[in-house]
Amino acid sequence: MNHRFTLGVISDIHYGPDSGTRKGSKATLMLKTFVSKINQLKPDVVVNLGDIISDVVSDPLEAIAYIKHLSPIFMSIRCPVIHVIGNHDCIVNIKTLEEVLQSELGPRIVMSEGFYLVILNTSDPPINGIGGNIGFVQMRWLADTLKSLDRPCIILAHHALDEQNIQANPLFKGIEEYAYVANRQQVRELLCQAPVKLILQGHLHWYHVSRYQHLLFITQTSFVDTWQIAAEYPINFSIISISAKDIQWYLHGADTFVRLT
Ligand SMILES: [Fe+2]
Repeated sequence: MNHRFTLGVISDIHYGPDSGTRKGSKATLMLKTFVSKINQLKPDVVVNLGDIISDVVSDPLEAIAYIKHLSPIFMSIRCPVIHVIGNHDCIVNIKTLEEVLQSELGPRIVMSEGFYLVILNTSDPPINGIGGNIGFVQMRWLADTLKSLDRPCIILAHHALDEQNIQANPLFKGIEEYAYVANRQQVRELLCQAPVKLILQGHLHWYHVSRYQHLLFITQTSFVDTWQIAAEYPINFSIISISAKDIQWYLHGADTFVRLT
């Protein structure tokens, strides 16, 4: 592999009414700016790591109306877009969500530029509407999928599969366990046996990097959250560029604070 594979990464758009520090009401405006920037940056693929719906939207019909606003904006991105389902997206039936976004959302594997992208549903089921899990059937599928790989893969997930200093994150105060996939240790055991180049995840609304054995975990912050920055329009996203020799990570938007563990 002597070319670079580039991914545009966006997560936790939380479109809907503002909620705490999350500027969900400005999400469509910000997403249009994101699209014009990403179309200039020309990544090979854009990945949306889930929670496109605001945490304060509880009516499925209202959620569908919001997603119908976002869907055509995503479709104006001039490269493939891969959507990952988040816990707040689960208030809508997955089939309906797939129809509105015109995208698959379940666990699947996609080939792009010489890499496999292994997409997980970490809300299988969501725990108390917030936490993550990977169910028995999906675990069997993941084990079989990873065994079949003949080249490197990138894992895409909404909830965290690593361990982080979550006590420093006020958004998970008192609900620290809900930051993660509940059975992450078993998932990591599978990933450690496979040619996994990178694990990309969202949900925690901060940038974070960690390692576990050969695994590298990158957490993408929220597109709209301002809990640690003063910004009217945060437009947080990043570009990850991968070659056989290295991984480069470029942050765009107001939040440029990365934590390392
Ligand atoms: Fe989430």
